[in-house]
Amino acid sequence: MRHRIFRTAITVLLLLQVSALPGQLSTEDHLADRGFWPTQPAKSRKDFAGPEACASCHSNKFASAQLTPMKNGAMMAATAEVLKSHPHLHFVAKQYQYAIDTGQDASRYTVTDGQRSLSYELTWAFGTARVGQSYLFKDGAQYYEARVTYFDKLKNLAFTPDRDLSSPKDLAEAMYRPVPTQEIQRCFGCHTTASDIGGKFDEAHLIPGVTCEACHGPGANHVRAMNSPSVVPNANDVAIFNSARLNPVEAVEFCGACHGSWWDVKLAGVKGVSTTRSAPYRLVTSRCWGKGDQRLECTACHDPHAPLQTEAAGYDKACLSCHLNAQGVKPSASLPGRACPVGTGNCTSCHMPKVYVPEMHDTFTDHRIRIVKAGEPFPE
Ligand code: HEC
Ligand code: HEC
Ligand code: HEC
Ligand code: HEC
Ligand code: HEC
Ligand code: HEC
Ligand code: HEC
Repeated sequence: MRHRIFRTAITVLLLLQVSALPGQLSTEDHLADRGFWPTQPAKSRKDFAGPEACASCHSNKFASAQLTPMKNGAMMAATAEVLKSHPHLHFVAKQYQYAIDTGQDASRYTVTDGQRSLSYELTWAFGTARVGQSYLFKDGAQYYEARVTYFDKLKNLAFTPDRDLSSPKDLAEAMYRPVPTQEIQRCFGCHTTASDIGGKFDEAHLIPGVTCEACHGPGANHVRAMNSPSVVPNANDVAIFNSARLNPVEAVEFCGACHGSWWDVKLAGVKGVSTTRSAPYRLVTSRCWGKGDQRLECTACHDPHAPLQTEAAGYDKACLSCHLNAQGVKPSASLPGRACPVGTGNCTSCHMPKVYVPEMHDTFTDHRIRIVKAGEPFPE
């Protein structure tokens, strides 16, 4: 653990130097660093124990994590509830008619242009459809992404975000986008566990969904150590990663490995309302964040082991860990935030607005905490 403390010291020094930047490192930089980081390739599939192996000792976390969209963020199309409960999905764009038809144990994706048609069996479904679900299929070793996605708000198909074509050159292009292996590896890196073994995509043995070891690193050693009576559990030597020990900037970038850190979004060139899909990017530009504060890490508001809290009141505690809640009291080091002249509760309902993202046909929560002014343009 000594190197971690040493690193923290260096990071603090770096922070002082580049304090003008709201974010520290891109995910690529973190991955190049030593130590575990989410989406990192693993050395061997044998290093993973699988989430069921954690259940006997961490039963509460295991049970509540079962219900999260993260845990269920990718699945074989044959098991996708969305497809089962919507057995006939369709969409029309110009002369092209799109359909996904689900039978007993498979879903078929068909596109016709009135004269010809192409048809494939879907392999993978991505997304729990809180917002939407996208589909991948294969022809030999080549992966394809369906040009259409299921959107919960539409209860039907529409163009996959950022993949709409006004005039596809042929039926094939209208139907799919071939996805290069490198990109497939990235999709699975964020939506599944243990998919990248030594830089190779291991489709046959991956664990669908973001499960325990996607965030805590391979756990087989930890399970072995904890099962061995000769080892006294010692908080510093339990052979598994706990991001609770990261500093606030790193902790937010940790979730940013998949959700998009400040640098990730900058480097990708994403702008406008679409950036609200990246909570880490928006959060660190809040005035509340300052140079980073543990009281505003993702885990101050979200338990990654449990479903999302959807009652605004559930977040008040986090705001009030910094903000006064009575007029006439002066801010201090322990409560640096002023009191609200308008409300005393449900803070996020006014200060973290829901923003409509057109390509997603849905809203996302803007994590830039602020005073929202009626009619203002989206603050970049
Ligand atoms: C045989 C029991 C056992 C099993 C199985 C087990 N753990 Fe643990 N785990 C422990 C104990 C004991 C600790 C010590 C700290 C504590 O009291 O929580 C611990 C601590 C942890 C910590 C905190 C580490 C730290 O340094 O703060 C994490 C994270 C963790 N376990 C994750 C997992 C994951 C993921 C799995 C499945 C791959 C797993 N555990 C399987 C018993 C177990
Ligand atoms: C390995 C990638 C990965 C990491 C690391 C990760 N997430 Fe996620 N997260 C996802 C994916 C993928 C989804 C979308 C699942 C879906 O809706 O299909 C998601 C969804 C969520 C949601 C939305 C849940 C809902 O009900 O819609 C929250 C909240 C969330 N993550 C919080 C966190 C926090 C907090 C951290 C850091 C502790 C974190 N995530 C780290 C991949 C990740
Ligand atoms: C850098 C990590 C990352 C990569 C790469 C990635 N995703 Fe995601 N994906 C996420 C996270 C985090 C979420 C949840 C937040 C959000 O909605 O944007 C998500 C959400 C989704 C959703 C649900 C819609 C939604 O917004 O909740 C779908 C569908 C999806 N991803 C499909 C894909 C497909 C298909 C690929 C590859 C072509 C892919 N993703 C690549 C991280 C990633
Ligand atoms: C999306 C990322 C993510 C996933 C998936 C995840 N964890 Fe965690 N886990 C965290 C974070 C972040 C912390 C640190 C919590 C904090 O900062 O309060 C943590 C902390 C823990 C701890 C230490 C708790 C403590 O009180 O010190 C244990 C044990 C643990 N997780 C077990 C698990 C198990 C078991 C699973 C699978 C069922 C799992 N985690 C899945 C992100 C995750
Ligand atoms: C100060 C509290 C707070 C913090 C800190 C916070 N969130 Fe949120 N988050 C919320 C609220 C409030 C919602 C909306 C809940 C609802 O009504 O559905 C939300 C929703 C989300 C969602 C669901 C999609 C959406 O946009 O509605 C994701 C994903 C998410 N947060 C990820 C993160 C990540 C990753 C971090 C760390 C960078 C983070 N959050 C930090 C309060 C917070
Ligand atoms: C880590 C401590 C911390 C947390 C947690 C925190 N804030 Fe703040 N917030 C501050 C500080 C400090 C300021 C004052 C910044 C300044 O004006 O210099 C501030 C400023 C604000 C402002 C004024 C912003 C502006 O543009 O003038 C609003 C509104 C606000 N906070 C609301 C919230 C809400 C709502 C929450 C919970 C979702 C929250 N804060 C959580 C510390 C925090
Ligand atoms: C009904 C909507 C609403 C709710 C609920 C609400 N606020 Fe506000 N808040 C506002 C508005 C509007 C302003 C701007 C007032 C002004 O400029 O006159 C504001 C201003 C603020 C400011 C800036 C104060 C200053 O002196 O500059 C802070 C900090 C703040 N709110 C925090 C919070 C916190 C913390 C909560 C929850 C305890 C909360 N707000 C609940 C609407 C709300």
